[in-house]
Amino acid sequence: MTDEKHDANAMWGGRFTESPDALMEAINASIGFDKRLYRQDITGSMAHAAMLARQGIISQEDATAIRKGLVTILREIEEGRFPFRTDLEDIHMNIEARLKELIGAPAGRLHTARSRNDQVATDFRLWVRETIDEVRAALRRLIGALLDQAEAGADWVMPGFTHLQIAQPVTWGHHMLAYVEMFARDESRFADARARMNESPLGAAALAGTSFPIDREFTARELGFARPAANSLDAVSDRDFALEFLADAAICATHMSRFAEEIVIWSTAQFGFVTLSDRFSTGSSIMPQKKNPDAAELLRAKGGRIVGALVGLLTVMKGLPLAYSKDMQEDKEQLFDAADTLLLSLAVMEGIVRDMKPNREALRAAAATGFSTATDLADWLVRRLGMPFREAHHVTGSLVRRAEEKGVDLADLTLEDMQAVHPAITEEVFDVLSVEKSVASRTSLGGTAPERVRAEIARWRKRLAGEKEA
Ligand code: ARG
Repeated sequence: MTDEKHDANAMWGGRFTESPDALMEAINASIGFDKRLYRQDITGSMAHAAMLARQGIISQEDATAIRKGLVTILREIEEGRFPFRTDLEDIHMNIEARLKELIGAPAGRLHTARSRNDQVATDFRLWVRETIDEVRAALRRLIGALLDQAEAGADWVMPGFTHLQIAQPVTWGHHMLAYVEMFARDESRFADARARMNESPLGAAALAGTSFPIDREFTARELGFARPAANSLDAVSDRDFALEFLADAAICATHMSRFAEEIVIWSTAQFGFVTLSDRFSTGSSIMPQKKNPDAAELLRAKGGRIVGALVGLLTVMKGLPLAYSKDMQEDKEQLFDAADTLLLSLAVMEGIVRDMKPNREALRAAAATGFSTATDLADWLVRRLGMPFREAHHVTGSLVRRAEEKGVDLADLTLEDMQAVHPAITEEVFDVLSVEKSVASRTSLGGTAPERVRAEIARWRKRLAGEKEA
């Protein structure tokens, strides 16, 4: 073997006489994707070096040289002139090897009382933590767009569906606020995950801790962690934070997928509920009249990809013995892809929501079909005539059948039609049969009445403003 090759294994080559096979290098190297952790790796190393010097484990001069070298490396990477090497496996060894080139011997002291196991766990946590903050900000922007939509159409009437059959009239604002609830829960799930994952693995070393007098509280504080992780075995082998991120991302993407599906349906000629902007639509190369909701369709699909990442990493982790195993290197690509996909999806969803134009007339017209105020009629029979609800349900059913036979809506039946089914019905009943009256009457907590919707919008705006201050 050549000296050159031996150099390539300088990080762990001591007991080896042969260099790795090219295929081994191909399966083993993670630098192609974990270079994304460069900033977190450098930040972690700076905190570690500062701690080693404070504790008298390395000299102050060495710590200063290490720090300066790391600053240079950070600049090299950010300016795209860092010589990444696949034979150096991963981001950790690439940076350490470069540090040695830049500052010589002191570089070799940086890895005292540390292992790549606690190093990668720290880097990855820092990365996920930052990404959670970006996702939460994106979710808040999306919620803002939904609140604007809700406000513009707080009292616009549209059909509410169950089984995708017209059920009862609801307001556009109410429908938008349903998604506000979902995305706000997503946001709080990410916040919970962030709080739970915010413990520092640094100082767990390979798996058992170290005999050096390190200060884990210090490095935890330096890196913005709430505390050091309590158990070194767990600290290096825990990937719950990545799984939780992916689970939260999967739920969020599922919400987007459901909304995207509604938008796809709403934008068809048959429904005509919304018009999507050209900015988030495409044309057909053969059918000149077409405007396709591609962005919404892709949002509908991206959920599958993110769920796939969650299942992928769960499957990698399942059955892994303590502590670190190389399997865990497979945590990154899936999570990076899921995070990129999620952030892109959230931005696109926000754009679609901001641009989409609800068609007030089409929404109202659809709401008035399908005997959507039948429940209002039954409720009136209960309230005014003291009928038990089950009987009222039956009477209303007969009236719906009569309207169907005549080919009219409930509101178009005559009083004679009504009284033929039940003699006690009066003229007053027509008051509850319009879709506007129907939604206005649903003032119960969480109901669809415009006054409720406006109060909810105000509550959400206040809450979002408060969160921004906090
Ligand atoms: N690239 C590795 C990973 O992402 C770093 C940790 C390697 N540790 C080890 N003992 N080989 O998991």
